[in-house]
Formats: sequence, structure tokens, C-alpha cells
Amino acid sequence: MKIFLNKRIPKIGIELLNHPNIELIFPDKEELTHEEWLGYCKQSDALLSVGKSKFNEEFFEECPNIKAIALFSVGYDHVDIDAATKHGVAITNTPDVLSNATSDTSFLLMQMVARYAFFNLNKVRNGEWSSNFNPIANLGQELKGKTLGILGLGRIGYEMAKKCIGAFDMPIIYHNRNRHPEIEKELNAKYVSFDELLEQSDVITIHANYTAKDQHKFNKESFNKMKSSAILVNTARGGFVNEEDLYLALKNGDIFGAGLDVTEKEPLAKDSKLNTLDNICIFPHIGSATVEARSGMARVAAENIVAFVEGKKLPTIVNPSVFDN
Ligand code: DGY
Repeated sequence: MKIFLNKRIPKIGIELLNHPNIELIFPDKEELTHEEWLGYCKQSDALLSVGKSKFNEEFFEECPNIKAIALFSVGYDHVDIDAATKHGVAITNTPDVLSNATSDTSFLLMQMVARYAFFNLNKVRNGEWSSNFNPIANLGQELKGKTLGILGLGRIGYEMAKKCIGAFDMPIIYHNRNRHPEIEKELNAKYVSFDELLEQSDVITIHANYTAKDQHKFNKESFNKMKSSAILVNTARGGFVNEEDLYLALKNGDIFGAGLDVTEKEPLAKDSKLNTLDNICIFPHIGSATVEARSGMARVAAENIVAFVEGKKLPTIVNPSVFDN
């Protein structure tokens, strides 16, 4: 079978794809135009897809040969799952293997913001480290005992909760599509409404799956409901946050700060107003960027391809109903 891999991935994935029934299509240049990419897709039976290319109705109509797409990501907001299922295309993702790395990123951002670490680092780099000790300058806040509010208590949210309990004894509240009674018991976590999450949290960390309904869930109205000492952390998807409203909330001190690993448009423009603020720390979508997580993602994505080629059950299928008929 012809499998199109659009980017280089860690070795373990390539080794798994070295299979007698796989003909690997791997382009000889890094960046493909949309037309070039589509050309490769049209020739393929399945894709191991790295990146955010959109898979929608139009794509599935144009590429009728494709019967499986193994995403190199846990998120699948760039895939129209209903359209994939309708066209008989199995979609798989890479859950679990990146939960630790992504929650580490959230934990790091939380602390970067709490202690204005990014702003202070820049002071040193810009030669602005004042020789006068000022007892009331550069004051961050401590996280011990502060309430962590989790939007989306899945695997990554759970790992973040455990880190925050272990390090700072933070009480956990959460809002989710479904309640998780066992996790509530284990973490002593309390289920709250979205408004209660906004009002009661000292740190809000976003870990939910993103859908179109969630666009700008964090907006002027939500920031007004949050504590002025609150920190917002987002390692999920940029679409959750209205960035114009966030800019104003941060500038006006409606909230204390924000740590983002994701933005609405990626990469974020250098001249974005967000880059002018001291109380924000932005990373370039590095949530899963560890050797361990990326190797795990390569392994899981390749295992799904191999299972597809061998006609076996796909280990991490997102749309199992594709096999109903
Ligand atoms: C994921 O796996 O969804 C990460 O955000 C990378 O896109």
C-alpha cells in the first residue's frame, strides 16, 4: 500500500513503516505547496499526516483512494470527522504519549507568568537589571494553595492537576462535558459550572478538545468574571481565546497574566499587540516538543498505519463507526 508521510518524524516511526506491504511516499523537499501536497495525497492509500492541513468534505471527494489518516497529533480539530466517516476514512490520533510533555508545558507557563519570568529574563538580556534593590519591584505571586481550574479534565488536564497538587497543594475544580466521579475522588476535585470556574479559579488551564462551538469561549465577558489576580494558561488551541479581548484584559489588569502555547493564528505575527505586554508568556506551540513525546507520537501514528495495512484493529481510532458497515 502507498503511504504518504509529509514530514520527517522520529526514527522509531520510520522503522515501523519499513514493512513489506508499505511503499512509503516521502517527498524530497521540506515544504510542499498545497497542490504538491494534494498530488501526493491523491496517489496514496493512507497518510501519516504531520501538521494542520485541513481534511474536509472537499478533500475526501478529491482523494477517494485514501482509506486511513494517521494524525501525528492528539488534536483533530482540523479534520471533519463526520465527512471522514461518510467517506469511509479511518482517522487515528496520538493520545496519552504527549500528556506528560503537554502538562509540563502548562505547568511551566503557569510559573513563568506567576513570577513574570519572561519579563524578568528580558530585563537581564536588555541590560535593565537595576543595581538598586527595590523591595516592591518585580513582585510575582506564589501558587501554594491557590485554586487550579481545569477546563477539560482529560488525560492532559489530569496530569496537570497531579503536578499542581504535588508541587503546590492546589485545590482542583474543573468543568468538562462529562463528570469524572473517579477522578473527583482521587484528586479531591470539584465539578463546577463554567461561570464558577471563571469566578473561583486562581489559575485556569485549558485542556479541552477544541470544536467550532468553543471559539472565543474566553472573551471580554469571561475575563470580567475572572479574579484580577487570575492567570490563564492555554496549551490546547488558540481558538478558545479572543486575543483582542485578552490583550485588553491583560493591559487593563482585569486578570494577572496569561501563558499561551497556542494562538489563533500560528505563527503569531511578530508585531502582535500581545508581544508588547509584560504579563504574558507565549511559546511557539511546543506542548509535545520533547524527545519522549515526539518518539511516542511517531510510534503510535506508525502503529496505526501498520495495523491498517495488515487489516487489524487500529489502536487509537477516533471514528470507530467508520467500520460499522
Ligand atoms: C497536538 O498533538 O494536538 C498538538 O497540539 C500538536 O498539534
